[in-house]
Parts: sequence; C-alpha cells; structure tokens
Amino acid sequence: MEDFVKINQKVDSISEALQTRHSIREFQNQTIPTEILNKLLSSSLRSPSWKNAQPWQIKVVSGKTRDLLSSRLVNAAQSSQPKPETEWLENYPAKAKKRMFDLGMKVYGVAGIDRKDKAARDEFMLNNFRFFGAPTCIIITTTFDLNFFVGIDIGCYVQSILLLAREHGLGTCAQAALGAFPEVVKDVLELPGEEKVVMGISIGYPKDNSNLNQFHAPREEFNDLIKMYS
Ligand SMILES: Cc1cc2nc3c(=O)[nH]c(=O)nc-3n(C[C@H](O)[C@H](O)[C@H](O)COP(=O)(O)O)c2cc1C
Repeated sequence: MEDFVKINQKVDSISEALQTRHSIREFQNQTIPTEILNKLLSSSLRSPSWKNAQPWQIKVVSGKTRDLLSSRLVNAAQSSQPKPETEWLENYPAKAKKRMFDLGMKVYGVAGIDRKDKAARDEFMLNNFRFFGAPTCIIITTTFDLNFFVGIDIGCYVQSILLLAREHGLGTCAQAALGAFPEVVKDVLELPGEEKVVMGISIGYPKDNSNLNQFHAPREEFNDLIKMYS
C-alpha cells in the first residue's frame, strides 16, 4: 500500500526518482496538465548525445489522435506480424533469456493470467497498444541511420523522460512494442518517409489500486555487475 502512495508522489532528487520508478502498466484516465508536460519535454531536450547529434524527433500523442493510433495499432497487432524498423535482437545470453522469461511469468502472475493461457497472454500484450490506458504516448522517431550510438543517444533521452516524469509524480512505460508497426504510426501521424519509428513511452498518472503497478522487476546484485579497480 505504501508503494501506491510513492508512485503518485513527486520526488525531489534523481536518486529518489531512480529508486522509486518502475514501469507502470495501468494508468488513470486523467489528462496531464499541459504546463507539466511542456516542462518535462523541455527539460528532456537537455539529454546528452554523441557529438550533440540529438538524433531524436518527439511526437506527443493525446486526445483523438491517441485513440485513433491505439485502435489502428491494436488492429495491426491482431492481424499482422511486427515489422520494426529497428533490429530486435533474437539471441540473448542464456542468463538474460531466463531473466526475460521470469519477468514475463511474474507480470502475468500479477495480472492474474495463467501462463498456459495463450489467448489471455495475447490479449494482455495488446494493452501495449492501448498505451496501458495512459492519456498520452510519446513516440520517438529518427531520421538518422540506426547505428549503435544513435540507439544509446535515444536511450539517454528515454531515461530522461522516465526520470523527469517520476519527478512530477507521473508514471511511464518505455515500449519497444510501439515500434512494432511503424507503417501505422507513420500513417496516423503523417510522418515523412525518412523518419523511422524507434519506440514509444506511455505516460500518465498511475492507477493506484493496481496490482500490476505494484510489481517491481528484480535487479542483479551489485557484485555480479560492478567490479571496482584501484
Ligand atoms: C528500450 C525498452 C523497451 C521496453 N519495451 C517494453 C514493451 O514493449 N512493453 C512493456 O510492457 N515494457 C517494456 N519495457 C519495460 C521493461 O520491461 C522494464 O523496464 C524492465 O522490465 C525493468 O522494470 P522496471 O521498468 O519496472 O524497473 C521496455 C523498457 C525499455 C528500456
């Protein structure tokens, strides 16, 4: 219960934002005040990038366009296979594969879905394209060639949004899934051909009576990942 309060409260430091943020997968149907959204987006542009490349283009989608994009993406997911413009890695190290499998199982468990129930799992997956109920989604596109450091730059940008949102008491879910059907996004947002759809972030106020929003993905131990030299 304590965590419900925490995820909706503003925080005062980056450490606190980092420690208390986690992906939100159930949002309230509450609009984000324009001044908060603008402040957050404006700060996010301070994100670092290689040689100040700033390879990101940001589309902030709310209202009727959000609803149209959502229904078109749900239709695409129900009737076709993902065709991302970014490369989705197939081969993960065994340890990561296990972690990813465990994550899926835990999330389904919290959502009350039997892991053998494929129809229920598929339906839950579609929530990605409903932006988990968030009033706004941020789509990130780029006109750059998709090289490794462009990805890192965009990663820095995404992390800025996640932390700034947390500072303002907003929840987020970063979603590779929102890059799964780029043609739909381009069509609805009328994007020029050279813009590639990378990913998206659902953003809004977290639902507070939600088991899903209570879920914290575990992290590896300090000593397993960090080695100190002197
Ligand atoms: C680049 C990226 C893509 C992601 N794509 C998705 C996604 O498509 N759907 C989803 O539900 N979560 C997605 N996530 C959220 C991760 O599952 C989540 O960050 C991870 O499990 C750690 O949990 P936490 O964010 O709750 O701390 C993504 C996160 C990142 C950084």
